[in-house]
Amino acid sequence: MARRVIHTEAIEEEAGLENSLRPQLLEDYIGQEKVKNHLKIYIHAAKQRGEALDHVLFYGPPGLGKTTLAGIIANEMGVHLKVTSGPAIEKPGEIAAILNNLQEGDVLFVDEIHRLNRQVEEVLYPAMEDFGIDILIGKGASARSIRLELPKFTLVGATTRAGMLTAPLRDRFGIVHRLDFYNTEELKTIVLRSAQVLGVTIEEKGAYELARRSRGTPRLANRLLRRVRDFAQVKYDGVITEEVAIFALDLLEVDKYGLDHIDRNILLTLIEKFHGGPVGLDTLAAAIGEDAGTLEDVYEPYLLKNGFLDRTPRGRKASPKAYHHLGITNPDEK
Ligand code: ADE
Repeated sequence: MARRVIHTEAIEEEAGLENSLRPQLLEDYIGQEKVKNHLKIYIHAAKQRGEALDHVLFYGPPGLGKTTLAGIIANEMGVHLKVTSGPAIEKPGEIAAILNNLQEGDVLFVDEIHRLNRQVEEVLYPAMEDFGIDILIGKGASARSIRLELPKFTLVGATTRAGMLTAPLRDRFGIVHRLDFYNTEELKTIVLRSAQVLGVTIEEKGAYELARRSRGTPRLANRLLRRVRDFAQVKYDGVITEEVAIFALDLLEVDKYGLDHIDRNILLTLIEKFHGGPVGLDTLAAAIGEDAGTLEDVYEPYLLKNGFLDRTPRGRKASPKAYHHLGITNPDEK
């Protein structure tokens, strides 16, 4: 039990540190230009009409800013933010209570919304569409349903897998945006901003090195920034230079494409155990000891986007770039 408590505290501390770096307003948010431009208009229009913003769905790989954007929407609209997640809500009564406690215009953020169970999801349909919930009173022949009116609210849903949402739920979001990986320039700007918030001195080249090794993901960039800061403080004079960044990131086993030891293990396993593939997702996941869903949602998108992995109808294949990057001769090129 004690171990579990420590683990939870570590997660909360990490979340707290992450929260302190989140921008509060759209104008401070770096990257995702298209999403930002759209949201700016929708928020402006909803405020002008004095209405709640339409329901919003964000999807895409983890760490790209879904939670941050939900917070920004609430701030920009000047309403409260209530945060929960799909797996945290087990019973219809729980979601009913959350909805009933919202105030007019509030934002309800549901992370991992694809993991809501069916009964809970069914409470959401009328809540999203008509701002009401039907409550069943009594049993058998005398049972009847009464409608509870809800305040007009905005549901912001986030998922790493849009494909796993049921059609009725997906169709109830008026605004749907996919978040994509950030480019190195954007990540560099994020790192410079975060360093300023944390009060760390960082040189441009140090920020660039961190940015290019952050898998296109701000959450990772900020996490690596804090680790590199530790090295700068203990081993150097506190300033994150290019040299410090390279030294620390090499020690952390993050390579120049931002791949970590798990990414490299995926590619290496594919090449060494499966002759480069193609191999099915479940088989590959079992071979590296990861959950198939985690492999698909967390690791694959970046490897696919950067051309290390190919998805074929018969399974995953290591690309020539993967062989080259790992320094292994590609039998197809001999
Ligand atoms: N911190 C994390 N993500 C950010 C972003 N997109 N813009 C600015 N700061 C961030």
